[in-house]
This record gives sequence, structure tokens and C-alpha cells, in this order.
Amino acid sequence: MMKRFCKLLKKMIPLVCLCSWSLAGVFSEEVKSVLVMEGDSVTLNTDDTDIQKDDKIFWRFGNDILIAQINRKNNERKFYNDNADGRFRDRLKLDNQTESLTITNTTNTDSGLYKVTSTSTQTPLKTFNLTVYDRLSVPVISRDSSQCSSSSSSSEQNCSLVCSVVNVGHVTLSWYKGNSLLSSISVSDLSISLSLPLEVEYQDKNSYSCVLNNPISNQTQHLDITHLCHTCAGTAV
Ligand SMILES: *[C@@H]1O[C@H](CO)[C@@H](O)[C@H](O)[C@H]1NC(C)=O
Ligand SMILES: *[C@@H]1O[C@H](CO)[C@@H](O)[C@H](O)[C@H]1NC(C)=O
Ligand SMILES: *[C@@H]1O[C@H](CO)[C@@H](O)[C@H](O)[C@H]1NC(C)=O
Ligand SMILES: *[C@@H]1O[C@H](CO)[C@@H](O)[C@H](O)[C@H]1NC(C)=O
Ligand SMILES: *[C@@H]1O[C@H](CO)[C@@H](O)[C@H](O)[C@H]1NC(C)=O
Repeated sequence: MMKRFCKLLKKMIPLVCLCSWSLAGVFSEEVKSVLVMEGDSVTLNTDDTDIQKDDKIFWRFGNDILIAQINRKNNERKFYNDNADGRFRDRLKLDNQTESLTITNTTNTDSGLYKVTSTSTQTPLKTFNLTVYDRLSVPVISRDSSQCSSSSSSSEQNCSLVCSVVNVGHVTLSWYKGNSLLSSISVSDLSISLSLPLEVEYQDKNSYSCVLNNPISNQTQHLDITHLCHTCAGTAV
């Protein structure tokens, strides 16, 4: 459709055609990033300025899998519950007035590209890149148990600790002393378990904390040196 239109224009005003082509290129590459926390609902907002009244509107996920359709003529809305392995079953809503799509109770497998297309153009009207982040739990600080038995006598000996989390992706785990960052490790997309060591002196009066964060949230565990470092069997004070 666009091509035919362009051919016609090309004959008439070469410059305008070149212009509209490059504009179409720009629009098709524009991807709106949307971040959401697992379990929350998210709405992908369309502003329907380009949408013709007689168009059908299609929502597609990932590798162009059709998940919803709107017939603008009679305002009929249809969901393709079996597509995309049925992952969106009963979790999609379409706004009555606009073409905006709401996904409820999001899960990690909802992450990906969502495209809005219409019958009148090949180029997506809008593309969203949805990333669903793990709901973070509070990290756990524990004493390195191998250090525990051998640290009986000297009061100058250090206390070895480890901060850990299980099964998380897209996160950074960090140790802070007051407000300053001491160390951190990051994991990208894989969901794995992480642990980060810290060595403190028994008499240390600074406040330490272990922070787990992703781009949209964080969880903090404060270190209680007295409780953790002085209560090992045989070393309690
Ligand atoms: C939207 O459509 C639903 C189902 O057809 C209807 O129950 C609801 O009242 C409508 N809401 C508005 C604001 O039109
Ligand atoms: C959300 O999804 C999870 C796992 O898919 C399910 O256990 C839970 O019941 C759902 N919650 C709601 C409110 O639908
Ligand atoms: C979508 O977002 C993810 C996470 O931020 C990023 O890794 C990926 O490159 C993005 N994809 C596109 C096509 O923009
Ligand atoms: C004890 O820990 C401190 C940092 O808290 C470090 O500077 C020092 O070298 C450690 N001492 C030993 C014996 O490991
Ligand atoms: C944790 O999140 C809060 C807001 O929820 C923010 O004010 C704070 O700076 C964040 N802390 C870190 C270490 O990212």
C-alpha cells in the first residue's frame, strides 16, 4: 500500500517521496521502552492520531504473533487466546475508546516487543519493548560458616560475611558502608543465585548494608555485626 502510494508520488514529486520514506524509516525504528515489575499490570498506550476510522488494528507480540484485534468500524475487540502458547489467556484488556492494550499479572515471559499495526500501513504504528523485572526479595546476610569454627580466640580476628539472593535476573547486588559503595556484582538476563562477600572487624561500629536492585526497585538488608559476628558457637561474647 505504502509502496504503491510512494510510486505514485515518485512520479509527481520526487523530493516529497524521499522525505516520506525516510520519515517512515524513522517511525518504524522508534521503540518505546516500558518497564514493569512482575505481577503488576501494564498499559501500552497508543495515541491514535494515525489510525483511520475504517482500519483494523492488530496487536502483535514477539515474532509477529497476533494477540489482539480491533475492528474500528463496529468497535469489535477480539483476543487470540491460543496464540503465543496461550500465555496471554485472560490477561489482556483493550481500552473501549482507544487502542491501548493492558496486560494484567505480568510474568517474565511477557518481556519482548509489542507492535501495533493497521490495515492501511505496513509499518508498525507503534512498537513497545516491554521488560518485566523480578519482584525482589530482601537479600540475606549470613556468616561464612567455614570461618565460624576457627575464630574462637583472638578478638582482633575478622568476621567473614556473605550477602546472597537466589534466582534473580537483571539485578545488581552491592555492599555499602554508610552511603559509600564497597563492592558489587551484576547479573544480566539469566536467573541465578548470587553471593557477595564482606570482611569486617568485630569492633567495627560503621553501618553496613547489602542492597539488591534492578532498574525499577531495590531491597536493603542492614548488617547487625553484634548479632551475626558474636554469636557463633564458642565465640559468643
Ligand atoms: C467498555 O466495554 C465493556 C464491555 O463491552 C463495558 O462493560 C464497559 O461498561 C465499557 N466501558 C466504557 C467506559 O464504555
Ligand atoms: C498471576 O499469575 C500467577 C502465576 O502465573 C498465578 O499464580 C496468580 O494466581 C495470578 N494472579 C492473578 C491475580 O491472576
Ligand atoms: C529491549 O529491552 C531490552 C532490555 O532493556 C534490551 O536488552 C533489548 O535490546 C531491547 N530490544 C530492542 C529491540 O530495543
Ligand atoms: C580485616 O578486615 C579489614 C577490613 O574490614 C581489612 O582491612 C583487614 O586487612 C582484615 N584483616 C585480616 C587479618 O584479614
Ligand atoms: C532504592 O529505591 C528508593 C525508592 O524506592 C530510592 O530512593 C533509593 O535511592 C534506592 N536506593 C538504591 C541504593 O538504589
